[in-house]
Amino acid sequence: IEQAKLNACDYACRHLYDKYGDALVVGVGTGSTVKLLITKCRDFFTKRVLVPSSHDTLLHLVSLGLNTAVDPAGVDDIDLYIDGADEVSGKLDLVKGRGGAFLREKSLAVRSRVRMYVVDYTKYTGLNHIYVKPIPIEVVPVSVKYVIRKLQELGYGEPLLRMGTGKDGPVVSDNGNFIVDYRLLKPVEDPLSLHNTLKLVHGVIETGIFPSNLVDIVVVGEPAGVRVLGK
Ligand code: A5P
Repeated sequence: IEQAKLNACDYACRHLYDKYGDALVVGVGTGSTVKLLITKCRDFFTKRVLVPSSHDTLLHLVSLGLNTAVDPAGVDDIDLYIDGADEVSGKLDLVKGRGGAFLREKSLAVRSRVRMYVVDYTKYTGLNHIYVKPIPIEVVPVSVKYVIRKLQELGYGEPLLRMGTGKDGPVVSDNGNFIVDYRLLKPVEDPLSLHNTLKLVHGVIETGIFPSNLVDIVVVGEPAGVRVLGK
């Protein structure tokens, strides 16, 4: 898997220089693959306005001497967004949010002109549905019991409040909310429709479903080489 990630990041780095050398404002996702890409391709990120999707990404940028990060609240137009993903379907619908950063990740993806995702082959299912990874759902803490009951009643999956490692109690997102992981009980052919249904539940702020309209290119690292999907 590590070699596959390296292959994906090598390709993605070349692609960034080839196609997006002019990008001034760059949104930066969260996770180990994005960190590897930033480390390997550090020079691409210098002298650009960087919009981090999490405290973790901000700290990584700063640790590499990349000090041009801005608060996402101060930016609207983003030229290019780069991120990882947890599950990629054959229709390029994504599930994201293992790292708990999906609210800000989506906030950046929706206002970006081009969205590129870099993953290793274990993430790409090639299926016509999403199913493998639980759907992370960001929830207002005061409403968490209600949301869990409603998710049970909806019947698409089993909701589980995400608990911390290294701390007692629930994981708290960078936005001060809880995360409920919704483990699907059956394949979901229309992720956008499930997302819309979940968003109607009081207390749900965002879901980790990134429908294909938020996806332009996916670089899938293989043990030898890459597969490039998308527009
Ligand atoms: C963060 O919340 C997620 O959406 C990540 O983008 C995703 O988990 C990918 O992480 P890895 O590259 O570490 O697999």
